[in-house]
Amino acid sequence: MNSIFTRVSVRKYKDKAVEPDKIKLLLKAAMAAPSTANQQPWEFYVVTNKSIIRKLAKASPYAGCAAGAPLVIVPCYYEDCMFAKYTQIDLSIATENLWLEANELGLGGVWLGIAPEEDRMEAVKEILNLPDGLTAFALFPVGYPAEARPQQQRFDESRVHYVI
Ligand SMILES: Cc1cc2nc3c(=O)[nH]c(=O)nc-3n(C[C@H](O)[C@H](O)[C@H](O)COP(=O)(O)O)c2cc1C
Repeated sequence: MNSIFTRVSVRKYKDKAVEPDKIKLLLKAAMAAPSTANQQPWEFYVVTNKSIIRKLAKASPYAGCAAGAPLVIVPCYYEDCMFAKYTQIDLSIATENLWLEANELGLGGVWLGIAPEEDRMEAVKEILNLPDGLTAFALFPVGYPAEARPQQQRFDESRVHYVI
């Protein structure tokens, strides 16, 4: 999959809505993720309401770029599931899938960290009025990119240890 090698963080977006069929593909990619014992501990909030997006952009000191996005997807997880210790790992894979699929579709986005920072998790929970037991994991603002750059080259042979 080429997106692994072309995906970058995109924090500036054109003033253009993301089409519903593309939003559906993003969500399908997220839910295609593997999870611990296939527990699929997730729910996804799809936010296009501008005033709510502006509030979400203030839920973390590092989420300001979300304010300019036409769409913010908020992956959330259930605290009470069989392998609860693994839920943030499960959500990480789903969020990376979202990111790669956005790139595939000619969109751009960036993972904005919410969990495991309790104050940010609480802020997003309040803004979205999440039900009891459901926790916000990340913010993923997405839109048509208004910036582009090549992916940083991070392969480092010295970090590889062959055990033969
Ligand atoms: C778990 C996680 C949390 C992140 N949180 C933020 C964030 O709060 N704000 C932000 O602007 N970027 C955030 N990023 C994006 C990283 O800064 C970015 O992925 C990194 O600098 C590498 O750049 P690249 O994505 O363009 O390859 C986050 C990325 C990850 C994986």
